[in-house]
Amino acid sequence: SKPSVYITREVNKEALDLLNTQCDVTFWTGPGPVPRSELLKNIENKHALFCMLTDRIDSAILDRAGNNLKIIATMSVGYDHLDVPEIKKRNIKIAYTPGVLTDATAELAVALLLATSRRLLEANEEARTGGWQAWSPFWMCGPGLKGSTVGIAGFGRIGQEIAKRLKPFNPERIIYYNRSERKKEAEEIGAERVNFDDLLTQSDFISVSLSLTPETKEMFNEAAFSKMKTNAVFVNTSRGGVVDQQALIKALQQKKIWGAGLDVMTPEPLPLDNPLFKLKNCVILPHIGSAAVETRKEMGLICAKNIVAAFKGDPLLTELKT
Ligand code: GLV
Ligand code: GLV
Repeated sequence: SKPSVYITREVNKEALDLLNTQCDVTFWTGPGPVPRSELLKNIENKHALFCMLTDRIDSAILDRAGNNLKIIATMSVGYDHLDVPEIKKRNIKIAYTPGVLTDATAELAVALLLATSRRLLEANEEARTGGWQAWSPFWMCGPGLKGSTVGIAGFGRIGQEIAKRLKPFNPERIIYYNRSERKKEAEEIGAERVNFDDLLTQSDFISVSLSLTPETKEMFNEAAFSKMKTNAVFVNTSRGGVVDQQALIKALQQKKIWGAGLDVMTPEPLPLDNPLFKLKNCVILPHIGSAAVETRKEMGLICAKNIVAAFKGDPLLTELKT
């Protein structure tokens, strides 16, 4: 019999078609993410799991899966929702989707940065609700990129592409913080490596593209926000967990920083009564970094290809090796 795959969401046709040629496919068809009780039930005896970043894959799920499970493919570049050590311990392979979403996410980061600094959503709201009385010299102004210092926190694939896209806006400097040096890439882009404190104190714009790990968890805390410039625009397109959100709320309320653009936060979805929604200097997006039509198709297809490769005993296309 064919190997079995459980998909935690209805995915694109290209991905489903490919899997259907090789495996028995079942998937969650509900409108939202698969409920945990359903996932626990449906993972039993499956050979592959195709999951989303909304699914927490931990030892309880792995125990329930049993010994057949050979591969977990997550339709995301982030993998903080996976208990990687537990998965590796059981000799289960992990595939993810780096690369294909880099451009889409970098695009979104730039859009979010500009939407925040130039107050696009607030201005749109004013225009629609009668706040637009007349063109006014200082109304709806925000900081410009030209001549500024742009700070990139996390200079991996996505961080580098954000830097490249911001360069034509003519900042004076692009600086980056990264655990390891990225000498060649940085030279090509014209970015300088700095320590975390210098990134905080020198940047006019800070764009975060760090992966969430125990080391980066709540790295942007009260101390960090207090070191930032009062004109600083803070943009996060990585994971909400890298930010101490209470500290960010306080920094925004007290105008310790100028504004924030968030595509990620804690928890997601952000409850409607969260103070962030009350802040005009905060732009909130519902985690849409990779949400370009072609990108999402590619992400689905890559997961399917990895699963097929695993069943054939071929090397994975995009294996997570940590
Ligand atoms: C999105 O956040 C992803 O990890 O792909
Ligand atoms: C703005 O519309 C200008 O003409 O300066």
